[in-house]
Amino acid sequence: MLTDKVRIAVLVSGGGTNLQALIDAERAGIIESGTVSLVISNVPGAYALERARAAKLETAVVTRADHPGAEDFESALCELIDSRRIGLIVLAGFMRILSADFTGKYRDRIINVHPSLIPSFCGEGFYGLRVHEAALAYGVKVTGATVHFVNEIPDGGKIIMQKAVEVKDGDTAETLQRRVMEEAEWQILPRSAELVCRMIKKERENG
Ligand code: GAR
Repeated sequence: MLTDKVRIAVLVSGGGTNLQALIDAERAGIIESGTVSLVISNVPGAYALERARAAKLETAVVTRADHPGAEDFESALCELIDSRRIGLIVLAGFMRILSADFTGKYRDRIINVHPSLIPSFCGEGFYGLRVHEAALAYGVKVTGATVHFVNEIPDGGKIIMQKAVEVKDGDTAETLQRRVMEEAEWQILPRSAELVCRMIKKERENG
């Protein structure tokens, strides 16, 4: 039996290059079991929102300023996600840690991209450029990116895909971040999204 595509919500906070990779992958047919249907940002001016609008996607802004309590903030997210019949939540540069209540409600339905090879340089406090600064400070010669399921432990859920990237002499956090995005994140995030959407569809077909 053929079932509908899995509706994907992408949660963002910044530039949205990973969101763009998802949009482009859907257009290219790399993502065929799911469809990006909603983009939620917790930062009103995030450039990711521009990318979403350019792709004619529904957007929403949910900020902590408007929802000062963590519970209130997350119930606003849930309301959007549930009312739009979202099947998969993709965290693509979303800079807020979600509670155990939230991750428990959507168990095996939230994935995240992290810019290192987990379990290196991950967990609370490791996000964005800080991850690459830590990798350079340690002196690793290889880093990369990881896509994983999201559970109650920050960056602690089951790994879906990883890709290694070489650290080059003279790298700055910025040059390393760019290489990790190009060579790893933008490749494995869309492929992981497709893999998980296919899994969700299969589960639906099996009742
Ligand atoms: C990406 O490098 C992503 O892996 C990282 O933030 C950047 C967002 O870029 N996420 C984390 O560090 C989460 N712990 P983008 O907005 O251009 O996709």
